[in-house]
Amino acid sequence: MDYVTLGKTGLQVSVLGLGSGGHSRLGTRRQQSDDNAVRVVRAAVDAGVNLIDSSEAYGTEHLIGRVVREVGRDKLILSTKLAYAVEGRCKTPTEIERSVDQSLHHLHTDVIDIYHVHAATVEDYPQIVAKVVPVLHRLREKGKLKFIGITERFTRDPAHHMLARAVQDDYWDVLMVGFNLLNPSARNLILKTARQKQIGVLGMFAVRQALINPENLRRVLHALVDEGYLDSAEIDVNQPLKSVLLGDDIPLAEAAYRFCRYEPGIHSVLSGTGSTAHLAENIRAIHQPPLPPDVLARLESVFGGLNHLSGELP
Ligand SMILES: NC(=O)c1ccc[n+]([C@@H]2O[C@H](COP(=O)([O-])OP(=O)(O)OC[C@H]3O[C@@H](n4cnc5c(N)ncnc54)[C@H](OP(=O)(O)O)[C@@H]3O)[C@@H](O)[C@H]2O)c1
Repeated sequence: MDYVTLGKTGLQVSVLGLGSGGHSRLGTRRQQSDDNAVRVVRAAVDAGVNLIDSSEAYGTEHLIGRVVREVGRDKLILSTKLAYAVEGRCKTPTEIERSVDQSLHHLHTDVIDIYHVHAATVEDYPQIVAKVVPVLHRLREKGKLKFIGITERFTRDPAHHMLARAVQDDYWDVLMVGFNLLNPSARNLILKTARQKQIGVLGMFAVRQALINPENLRRVLHALVDEGYLDSAEIDVNQPLKSVLLGDDIPLAEAAYRFCRYEPGIHSVLSGTGSTAHLAENIRAIHQPPLPPDVLARLESVFGGLNHLSGELP
């Protein structure tokens, strides 16, 4: 496993992090068992993945906690999140501390390495700064948190309005950014500044649904043609791999992870899965070299100007 320094946090994180949210939630969203989820986390750790991401909203923290108990806390960098809003308002200081304490309990630890404000919107951002950030600072002083991050709601905010504000501020040690080959708009909007300020960046949505198989990619291309974003004379939507990756020798999910891994400014790419086979494929993919220059140029010409896709299916 390759490791990188997560910006100014100084943490040495694996270039692939295991995500326990998304559509899979370690398989639990598809009725796979808790034991299977624990096996996936354990397989990731055994392969050298040290960054594990969760949220109080996912219902997976306690499964990660089981692995923390098995392998020991010092092997892991634990990232989790605050569901900051209740009934249209930000949580109170007491509610925030209760959330943190619950996460500590579920994760079987006494300190969280990276604690994010989860899926923040641009509308809520001023309130988050005024009401949530000071509480997180106090909890950091108490020793319950090490670093503070914020994540975007990429499906609803694919043009990064919230993070474009957050990256200008000095509250955040880490940002979690939606980035994939269908929507690389974070490159200019977020990553440039994040690099200058040495903010740690975790990439999410590397494959999501659109990039897990050619049929799903075909649906995305069809929609782009129908909506007038792509010219059907320039792209054969029925041959998605040939049209987009210039052939079918690189599997789509592999191409998607390689695309994200080498993006300057992204430190670790999160991969969400409930399958040890997919996990192994993704670890292999992340260690492949960058995509060939002609493929990158083709991706830029097809998707480089788009900022409205997230990777969900149309
Ligand atoms: N706002 C936020 O804070 C936020 C939002 C979204 C995600 N996240 C974090 O980011 C992590 C990554 O996002 P994501 O879960 O959407 O991740 P992703 O890695 O882009 O997509 C995961 C999906 O792809 C499938 N998959 C993974 N590897 C595959 C492979 N090799 N071949 C075919 N299918 C594959 C998974 O299903 P299988 O189970 O079948 O493998 C899963 O449904 C999340 O788990 C979560 O921790 C945070």
